[in-house]
This record gives sequence, C-alpha cells and structure tokens, in this order.
Amino acid sequence: MLIFANRERNLSDFKKIETMLENPKRYTITAALPYTNGPIHIGHLAGVYVPADIYSRYLRLQGRDVAFICGSDEHGVAISMKAKKEGVSPQEIIDKYDAIIRQSFQDFGISFDNYSRTSAKIHHDTAQEFFKKLYDQGDFIEEVTEQLYDAKAEQFLADRFVTGTCPKCGNEEAYGDQCEKCGSTLNATDLINPKSTITGDIPVMKETKHWFLPLDRYQDFLTKWILEGHAKDWKTNVLGQVKSWLDDGLKPRAVTRDLDWGIDVPVDGAEGKKLYVWFDAPIGYISSTKEWAAREGKNWEDYWKKDDTKLVHFIGKDNIVFHCIIFPAMLKAEGTFIMPDNVPANEFLNLEGNKLSTSKNWAVWLPEYLKDFPEKQDVLRYALTANAPETKDNDFTWKDFQARNNNELAAVYGNFINRVIVLTNKYYDGIVPEPQEFHEIDEQTLAELRAYPAVISSSIERYRFREALGEVMNVARLGNKYLADEEPWKMVKTDPERVKTQMYVALQIATALSVLCEPFLPFTATKLRKILNLETPISWNSVSEEDALLKSGHQIGQAEILFAQIEDSEIEKQVQKLEDSKAANIAAAKTIEPEKDAITFEDFSKMDLRVGTILEATKMPKANKLLVMKIDTGIDVRTIVSGIAESFTPEEVVGKRVTVLVNLAPRTLRGVESQGMVLMTTDAAGNLAFVNPEGENISNGATIN
Ligand code: 2FM
Ligand code: ZN
Repeated sequence: MLIFANRERNLSDFKKIETMLENPKRYTITAALPYTNGPIHIGHLAGVYVPADIYSRYLRLQGRDVAFICGSDEHGVAISMKAKKEGVSPQEIIDKYDAIIRQSFQDFGISFDNYSRTSAKIHHDTAQEFFKKLYDQGDFIEEVTEQLYDAKAEQFLADRFVTGTCPKCGNEEAYGDQCEKCGSTLNATDLINPKSTITGDIPVMKETKHWFLPLDRYQDFLTKWILEGHAKDWKTNVLGQVKSWLDDGLKPRAVTRDLDWGIDVPVDGAEGKKLYVWFDAPIGYISSTKEWAAREGKNWEDYWKKDDTKLVHFIGKDNIVFHCIIFPAMLKAEGTFIMPDNVPANEFLNLEGNKLSTSKNWAVWLPEYLKDFPEKQDVLRYALTANAPETKDNDFTWKDFQARNNNELAAVYGNFINRVIVLTNKYYDGIVPEPQEFHEIDEQTLAELRAYPAVISSSIERYRFREALGEVMNVARLGNKYLADEEPWKMVKTDPERVKTQMYVALQIATALSVLCEPFLPFTATKLRKILNLETPISWNSVSEEDALLKSGHQIGQAEILFAQIEDSEIEKQVQKLEDSKAANIAAAKTIEPEKDAITFEDFSKMDLRVGTILEATKMPKANKLLVMKIDTGIDVRTIVSGIAESFTPEEVVGKRVTVLVNLAPRTLRGVESQGMVLMTTDAAGNLAFVNPEGENISNGATIN
C-alpha cells in the first residue's frame, strides 16, 4: 500500500519509512540549482554535480526509476548585483549564463533528466501556489519590523546587498543572510557594522512588512527526524551543522523581500515584494520535476509525495541549512510532501592551495576546461572524484590532475584495456576465444570480479564516491595482475590452448569495467563498449552473475587510446593562467582607493590612537579568523580581538609594536569583550600587515596625532 506523506510523525513512523526505503520504488535526486551569475567551476562539480551524476547513473544501471533534477537559480541578489556590475538587465544575465551552464553540463556528461530554470512560468506558478497554501493555512507570521535601508540606493538591504561582521565568528565579510565562514544563517539586522554593497554606505533602519516562517515551530520535528532518525546514516559534517542550529534554537525567518527582481508575493498587501530566493529556489526542484513528468507522461506527485520514494539532495556545505532546516520546514508546513532521505553535502574544494573565488578569477571554469581539454571530460571527473572533498576541504592541483591521468587512468586502466584488445586482435582476429579448462587462478579471478558490483554498490549507496572509484580501479588492477601473472604473450609460444582461457578471462574483466566505470567515467564506458562492440546494454547486477559477459565467438573492434598522456606543457599552460589571475589581483589590489569625504579636525581628534605592544596572543577557539591579544597600551593592558588569525600565528605577533585605537566602543566577539582596534593595512599581494610605529624611543601609550 502506498502511503501519502503528511501529518504528525513519530520516531517509529520514520523507522517504517526507512525500512521501506531500503528498497525504494523510485528516486528523486536533486542537485543544487546553480545561480546564473557565472559559469560552473570545478568547486561546483566536485561538491555537487559529479557525485549526483555518479549516483543517478549508478541507479539507472541498476534498472531503478530515477528522476535526476536540476535547473538554473535565477532570482536573488547575486543576479541583480551581476546585472548592475555589467550594466545590463537581470534577464540578460540569466539568459546568458543559463545557456552557458546548460551547454557545459551537457558537454560534461551530467545526465540530468530535467534541467529547468526558475524564471520559467511553471516555477513562478508552483512557488506562488506553495506560498499561498502556507499563507492560507496560517503558517506565516506577518510582521512590520525595522530593516536595514540604503537611503542613497533607495533599497532595503538583505542577503548579498549587505555585508558586515558575523556575530558568531567575527568574519568581517558575512552576508545579510549567511556567513560563509562559519555557515551560520543570519538576518541582515544581526550583522555588526553593516555596510551596503550597493553604495558602501552605512544603512539606516526603516520599517517594512514581511512574512516570516516560524522555524521555531518545527524545532521538535526537525530534532526528531534528523538528530534521532538519521544520526547513523547522515554525514557527520551535515549532522554537526544541523545540531548547532538546533542547539541555538530556531527563530522565525523572513521569506519575503523588498526587491525588484524575483517572484511576486501572491497575497494582498504585498505589492512590490518578492519571495526570498531561498524560498523559491528549492521549490525549483519540484517545478523542474513537474516539467519532466509532463514531458515523460509521469505523475510528478509520485516523486515528491510517496513514502516509497527516496529523495536525496546533493549540495555543497554552504547550502546545508537551507536543505536540512528551512526547506524541510516548508515541506512539513505544506503537509503533503516527503522528507529527504539524505542530504550528502560535500565540503569545499580549493585550488592550488587557495579558496576558489569567482571575483578573483581563481577557478577552473568548466567551459574553458572543455575548450582546452576536449574529449577529456572523464579525466576531470576522475580527478575530482578521486580527490573529492567528502569529509574535509580538499585541494585541486594541476600536477595532481596530470598524475591521476598519466599514472592511474592511462597506466592502470588504459594499459589493461589496450593489452587485452591488442592481444585478442593479434591472436584471434578480434574474436573472443572459447575457454578451455579453467585453472584455479581463473576461477579465483572471476570470483573476485563478480564480487565487485556489491562492493562498489555499498560504497555508492553510502555516498562514498571516492572509495567506490578506488574499487573500480581495483578491477583494472585485478586485470593487470592477472595478465602479469599469466603472461599470455609468453604462454602463446608454449601452450596456445591455455592462452584462449586467459584471454577469455581478461575480456570478461574488460567488459565488467565498461559497466562498472560508467557512473564515474561515462565517456570512457561508451568508448570501451564501442571497442568491445557491445550493442546491448549490460546491467550492473549481471556482472555478478556466472554467465559470460562477453560470449565466445563475439567479434570485438580495434584498440583505441582511452587516456592519452597529458604533457607537462599542457599543465604549465593552466598553471600560467592561474599565475596571470594572481598577477591581475595584485595589480588590482595596488589600485589606490579613492579619498573619502572630508572630515573636520574635531572628527579626527575624537580618535585616541596609541602606540602599544602585543604581550600575549591566543587563537579564539572554534573561530579560524580571530586572535585574542593582550596589548600594553601604556594606559593599561587590555584585550583586543582581531580578525587576523589567518594571516598571523600567535607566536608571530607577540612582541610587535602596533597602533591601537583605544577609545573604540568595546564589543563582544564570541563572548570575549574586545576593547579597541589594532590598525592594519594590506600589502600589494593583499596580505595583512601591521601599521608599526617606528623609533626606539617611542614608548607604549604615546599618542598618534
Ligand atoms: O548556493 C547556490 O548556488 C544556490 N543557487 C543553490 C540553490 S539550491 C536550491 F535550493 F535551489
Ligand atoms: Zn560567521
């Protein structure tokens, strides 16, 4: 019997659903909708799209019913800001990047069943209906509150229109809705020292009406469902973030905005207001499923409302709160939807030791990669999966990329296939030989081969894709070892009958590889199937069966190079591109900021600047950026907290002469009161540097004026 999800659930209900989902009828796999404000880069691929694609392809090979859903995220401040910067309309921006993103996903082999866009009518309708239903059910709180307002831009400041210091970790570049450093979700009014990103002005407060989703009402539900129900099967990084929000206590969150780009709020009294982008975007998964279902003659509700459907969201770690707290609370409020069975969020991928950054052009962009390395989609898929940031942030380097290709794909996988195909053509004109008597090593090798699908499945189903890929490569290693041990090229001179069995066994391994590598290396799988002349698809599970995967008498094709060597010069070209970005960033950092508006001498003399010496320094626990320092200001020894811990170790700063603004009003960061500010500057490379007072005779407490 199919049960429609809704209503109150207790732990035993969740357990029942879990059991049902051990063998689900269908899968809804979502991949985070990318913002259409730039192309896709390797960080997106490693974090979200490659693992989601591996999972979806694997399930299809298992003969499962899969809807792999994505689309462009076309609302939100990120789009408006990009449009402003380029001096064009948001529509032009989304059209441009939607086309680029779609094309590059397709060329890279990301096998979405549907890729939609949130500017589509079906999405506007779906998001508005969803809002209206919650509104009619009384699920929102309607409230007039004071919000940040940029008077010059005549614009309320929310989300990315405002930056400031995160009250949780001290990151000075937190956004109005989220701190990317510590992952906290914020309200714009939580920010310390908020600043408009439109004009740079300090905002004023202004009243406005909004609709709030009272997340606190879902606190118990979320605690039960995630912390009790999924304590064992969700990733620890995800559980950790969820627990920290729940421990903090959930608060109502505005789901409408005063913006001119987005989906209209469909209720009276909300004229000119738009839905918060994080309200509409996840509903994009639903509208994209509707679009797909209409095209395929399916019922979209089966994929979102039936308890025997397994819903999995693939996302990066910055999206955890939206997919584990806010969207589930929305679905729960609506009342007829299922909850995700898992949200296997990845950590971040860095590039050559530095954080990926769109604004600093510190990235490997997918369209550029596809241009520079046509036909090498699988090499990048392999490098990103072998080094996936599944449990911690990882680093992509071009050297590693080259080594993965040359020393693993070419040397292990390519080499095995090449030997099998060349020898079969040489000895038997490409016809699969009839095996003779099986020796123990043959039986053993085939038995080992037949065990691989279960091993790889187990890793994939636990979202351990790098482990799974390692096992696929072990299949190629098994093949290489078999050939190296048996040496058919020697045996052919002494016992040609035995070689028939050897080549038969090796060909079974090659065929199995064409199936097992497909989720990870789909282009290679297609090439290999062509080389093996396989017309009918082979299912995942048949690799475990005793029947031959490739029958005697079958004619295979000619060898082809699967993985060409990647030369140093190709890698140097890519590294040079990054060097160029670095140089451009340094040049940009050198550009002198324009002079600020004039102030009076009186204004200046309000600042009490003193020479001081740092006596002690420690890292603030659980805050990467903050150093807690004891500074002798001549007046006293005081505590100052400063966001410099990523640039200096405590040992490096102790003993330094510094300039201190001593009469800055104290403020508390992570529970520690900071009683002043140490003045800093940045060097040409963008590194922080102290403003040191020079001269041996200057003592602590000396005034600077
Ligand atoms: O972080 C992002 O890039 C968002 N555009 C992801 C949206 S995921 C979903 F909910 F639509
Ligand atoms: Zn923070």
